Amino acid sequence: MTRQKIINSPEFGNKAETYEAVDDVASNPDLGRTIGDVINARYGRRDIMRGMLGVSASTALFGTSALIAPSKAGASSTPASRYNFEELAAGNDETHHIAQGYDAQILLRWGDPVTADAPAFDVYNQSAAAQLQQFGYNNDFVGFVPMNNSGTRGLLCVNHEYTNEEMMFAGLGRQDRNEFSGMTPELIDIEMAAHGGSIVEIVQDTSGKWFVVRDGQLNRRITPLETKMTLSGPAAGHPRLQTGDDPEGTQVIGTLNNCAGGMTPWGTWLMAEENFHGYFWTDVLDAKGKPDLSAHPDAISKKRYKIPSMWYAWGTRYDRFNIDKEPNYSNKFGWIVEVDPMDPNTTPIKRTALGRFSHEGAETTISSDGRLVVYMGDDNRFDYLYKFVSDNIVSDTPSENRNLLDEGTLYVARFEVDGTLSWLPLVHGTGPLTAENGFPSQADVLIDTRLAADALGATPMDRPEDAQPRGDGTAYVMLTNNRKRKTPNAANPRAESTFGHIIEIKEDHGNHAASTGKWSILIKCGDPSVAEVGAEWNPDTSQDGWFGSPDNCAMDADGRLWVATDQGARWHKSGKSDGLYAVETEGHARGNSKLFFRCPVGGELCGPCFTEDGETLFLAVQHPGTDGTKYFKGFERASTFDDPATRWPDFDPEMPPRPSIVVITKRGGGKIA
Ligand code: FEO
Ligand code: CA
Ligand code: CA
Repeated sequence: MTRQKIINSPEFGNKAETYEAVDDVASNPDLGRTIGDVINARYGRRDIMRGMLGVSASTALFGTSALIAPSKAGASSTPASRYNFEELAAGNDETHHIAQGYDAQILLRWGDPVTADAPAFDVYNQSAAAQLQQFGYNNDFVGFVPMNNSGTRGLLCVNHEYTNEEMMFAGLGRQDRNEFSGMTPELIDIEMAAHGGSIVEIVQDTSGKWFVVRDGQLNRRITPLETKMTLSGPAAGHPRLQTGDDPEGTQVIGTLNNCAGGMTPWGTWLMAEENFHGYFWTDVLDAKGKPDLSAHPDAISKKRYKIPSMWYAWGTRYDRFNIDKEPNYSNKFGWIVEVDPMDPNTTPIKRTALGRFSHEGAETTISSDGRLVVYMGDDNRFDYLYKFVSDNIVSDTPSENRNLLDEGTLYVARFEVDGTLSWLPLVHGTGPLTAENGFPSQADVLIDTRLAADALGATPMDRPEDAQPRGDGTAYVMLTNNRKRKTPNAANPRAESTFGHIIEIKEDHGNHAASTGKWSILIKCGDPSVAEVGAEWNPDTSQDGWFGSPDNCAMDADGRLWVATDQGARWHKSGKSDGLYAVETEGHARGNSKLFFRCPVGGELCGPCFTEDGETLFLAVQHPGTDGTKYFKGFERASTFDDPATRWPDFDPEMPPRPSIVVITKRGGGKIA
């Protein structure tokens, strides 16, 4: 289907679902390098290249270490998992649900005041000026910076990934079908002010309840509308970053589509810029109505990044989002942004050494030799997993880490058939990354990270989302789904993967800075009772406990893994709301999963963030009432502001559903699970 046909198709209920469907077309042309070719050459078995790999075939190819499935007898004689809570029943309805014995409190909602002088939210009289002081839309990553020793006061750092105009503004409806004709300049500015991030001081009282500190001196909004940022690292100042408003190539206004992220050991916040391509515009179209990039010298780069994708009308109002007027401005997006939440006077910095792609997250750890390592997924079909290793060691003095993220090596992952893993350095002058191959400098390698990784022969993955390291040299990678995959490879073992999988990485010598490691598949997601799905879980996993489309994830203080899901409009394939699952990674219970929290209909779960004492868990419910509501029994239509599938969390007839932060604590106090 063409873009316009998809936009007009009744199959997709809103712009976000349509965006997802159009984005289903991968920009990575290099599918010929898949391990399917290796398999075919080695085994001459075409039958295993299509559809699911049978157990015997996959065992023969990848060894038993790649499969979990301990014997049923062995598993049932041991405890199901280390997580101590009574599992929640899966399902889907208008509200959220939490496991028995826990409280779920709504802490912050779209529109809630952030800065001390913010006006109260008036959904029928919104303005950009008000939104710039209020909590933004679609909360995603959540980080917590303690401000006292007991951890009962601190700063919540929250990303606001994107906006759903049909759910935010009364009477507007979806705008991609009418060329954004309803998007007035004021509405565009409100949208921009609702993106970015929020820093909010919160405090816990003696009863365990958390509150927003309304006059918190550090409370702050960061937006693509007006927050000035700098670019640093090897690409800063490169001619490809120079624009009309910035001849030096070191300045940029704003950050956008901030999905997951991370916190550094020295207390700064890493905001990942994910689907930035959707915000750029062109008026120059070819005969088929597609962007005509023939006038652009960097058309190959723009195509690989799908720029411009025109999912927001910002480029009709601001030249910086129109590639006809500012062809280089899009090169200033797709980076990791470092923000110091403790100092509102510091300027956020885009760290170019960490590469440019659809950054899903940026979770950090320290290698055994003291360096910072950041794991990062490029959330695009057939794109790659990366990690950054700093040159210098992390200092106990925060100010000494100020430029740590500017010097280091960016690596991309190649998953070998034999269960080993190679991290390939993206360094100008090594291997194919030379001027003759289109990479004249390290700046070009970083601006065109995807093209450089293509040249190195990285393994094309099933949409790498969040990747979560643990201090012992282990990392977990969420591969959310990839219905476009025709040829499985060892690390992405299912064709047309609807439910995704989770990979476990063990870096050599337990050192996160290692350039080699081992990998195995922890879980193949989906319903284990349907053979055709090809799911693999610990057999003790219940019908409530299995899930699809792992997305965000977190590690608690005990090194246990928690996984949040985002099934998008296809939640009906599982029949379950998105939720939070406790996933066992060790012992006989390895591969077991238990449902702990679930979202209201149409919402996806983001965040998970535990405080250090493990007694508080922050969750972010994104776009409640929005995705796939035509499958919601009794509603069965697309949601809008005026006619939403749920009005969670207010259930006020005058208020649409609002993305919100939820705080989980154990009733009576104590550690979660
Ligand atoms: Fe913003 Fe890849 O989820
Ligand atoms: Ca995500
Ligand atoms: Ca997501």
